Amino acid sequence: MPRSNVRNTPYRMKLTGSRSAKLSVKSLVSILDLNEADIDLLLRRADAPSPHGSLQGKQVALLFYENSTRTYNSFQTAVHQLNGTVCGFSGVEGTSVLKGESLHDTIKMFENYADLIVLRHPNDGAARWAADISSVPVINAGDGQNEHPTQTLLDLFAIKKTQGRLDNLKVALVGDLKYGRTVRSLSQALSLYPGNTLYLVNPPFLPLPEPLKQWLREKGVKIEERGSLEEVMSLADICYVTRIQKERMSGVDEFLRVEDSYRLTRRHLTGVKANLKVLHPLPRVKEIAVEVDSTPYAHYFAQARGGVQVRRALLELIAGRGD
Ligand code: NCD
Repeated sequence: MPRSNVRNTPYRMKLTGSRSAKLSVKSLVSILDLNEADIDLLLRRADAPSPHGSLQGKQVALLFYENSTRTYNSFQTAVHQLNGTVCGFSGVEGTSVLKGESLHDTIKMFENYADLIVLRHPNDGAARWAADISSVPVINAGDGQNEHPTQTLLDLFAIKKTQGRLDNLKVALVGDLKYGRTVRSLSQALSLYPGNTLYLVNPPFLPLPEPLKQWLREKGVKIEERGSLEEVMSLADICYVTRIQKERMSGVDEFLRVEDSYRLTRRHLTGVKANLKVLHPLPRVKEIAVEVDSTPYAHYFAQARGGVQVRRALLELIAGRGD
């Protein structure tokens, strides 16, 4: 059948190619649920968003048991852009969770209302458990200190955009590597690509867990533990800074012994590689000085901009009508 002119434009042809593609998974709980082809599909789709409202007539439940600004709002924006509707909550205030309703029962209710559930929960493993009992797909928007796969997708999107590749990179992971779920998911994702080196720069009490380090080494990731930012800044392609996860600590003493233990300033940005980009999942507290924002290396706000595009691509591929 002859195609119309509109269908023959390069933009349209690109969409035609990727629309027929599918993810290998129904839910997204861990970044390792995805293979390289899935990630490639998602990043390509994020880069060339479909003009269609592929969630027309569909509802997405956003169930956020923990604080969120970016993740909640970027999911909500993405659903709206795709002409879908949202239900759910951002924070448990005002919900039956405060009456003692279990996660199980809440999931069983929302699968009646929604075609897809996006869950953020303070317990490690909550998203996997929810995906196992839910009749609709579940996307993990952060489970305790465990994983944050959609943040990793937008991190990878920013890395690919600024470095042109996801392999053979030198990535400094800076900050709270013990409780931070974004670094766990990102480090695992980087293990899918050959030749990556991770420089771990953390206060003494907040290391990346040993089993994860071991696992990464077995996957071929080069791990180098460094004592300070000064030791890695001239080597890194990406400097991924994270805040101290105060809310996951056992008490105020644990926080006080690491508070103010690291801070990226302009001073660290002399003699760095021209392609260096500083990333941060946000929110920032004090770990990147505001003076860094106006340097060509600061990329954290641009990184967050990609959040809507990436989540939109994910929603389309998981719950979109595909027509
Ligand atoms: C991260 C999270 O929730 O883990 N935030 C986010 O989603 N961008 C990072 C953090 O809270 O430090």
